[in-house]
Amino acid sequence: MRFFVLFALIATPVLSAGDNVEITLLPQGSVLTEQGLEAWDRIYEVASHPRCSNCHTGESDRPMWSGPSYGQARPHGMNIQAGDSRDGASFIRCVSCHALTGQGGNDAPHMAPQVAGTWQLAPVEADWFGRSSLEICTQLRDPALNGDRDITALATHLDHDVILHWAWTPGGGREPAPYSLQEHVDDLILWGAAGMPCAGDVSNN
Ligand code: HEC
Ligand code: HEC
Repeated sequence: MRFFVLFALIATPVLSAGDNVEITLLPQGSVLTEQGLEAWDRIYEVASHPRCSNCHTGESDRPMWSGPSYGQARPHGMNIQAGDSRDGASFIRCVSCHALTGQGGNDAPHMAPQVAGTWQLAPVEADWFGRSSLEICTQLRDPALNGDRDITALATHLDHDVILHWAWTPGGGREPAPYSLQEHVDDLILWGAAGMPCAGDVSNN
């Protein structure tokens, strides 16, 4: 019983970070292609950042350890594999180490990051690690590859994902993802209203 009370107290601030994100949709076509492409460049800086791409490793079922706090980039230690489930179910589940314990896991360097959500690898299609801006752009705008989401669904998904809140406040000496979650969501809305342009598209103006 005590455990549950404690858990609720600790979990609340993590989840409530989502309340601060405002999603203000813009009319389709109200943003120029050029501005949409500028927004995309910032979106790519976020998507390709280690706090995001370490879990978006495509066909590999190995999460990555990369970024300034890791030194040389390498696959997750301890022979961790995500398997087809992407959550390690057939080996050792990611949540065995990545669930919130309330013991300050995100304060100390090299501890497993802990979140109040289900820690697992992103779907195979959302393959971002080491991918180019154009590759990620064409994947993210394709409903067949992005979980059948339009821009509103993408923006709302980001707002409600506790893992994303961790990516901007990772602690433990880890470098946060660039910009802020609010700015990232704003950029997605701009990119969407410009028609989700990718480099080489014909301009709308
Ligand atoms: C702990 C691993 C993990 C990290 C870190 C992570 N993601 Fe993900 N991501 C996932 C999983 C799992 C899904 C699938 C969730 C779903 O479909 O509900 C996903 C799906 C997505 C999607 C939906 C679109 C698609 O193509 O599938 C977007 C957008 C996304 N992530 C953005 C990000 C961004 C931006 C960051 C960094 C700020 C990030 N993710 C960090 C695991 C992660
Ligand atoms: C036995 C414990 C353990 C298990 C199980 C585990 N991890 Fe980890 N994970 C760690 C530790 C410890 C770190 C931090 C290493 C460091 O900072 O040097 C880590 C770090 C990570 C990172 C890097 C986060 C970042 O960007 O800084 C990702 C991504 C990750 N794990 C994904 C997974 C996934 C996906 C699974 C399941 C398939 C999983 N882990 C299972 C212990 C574990």
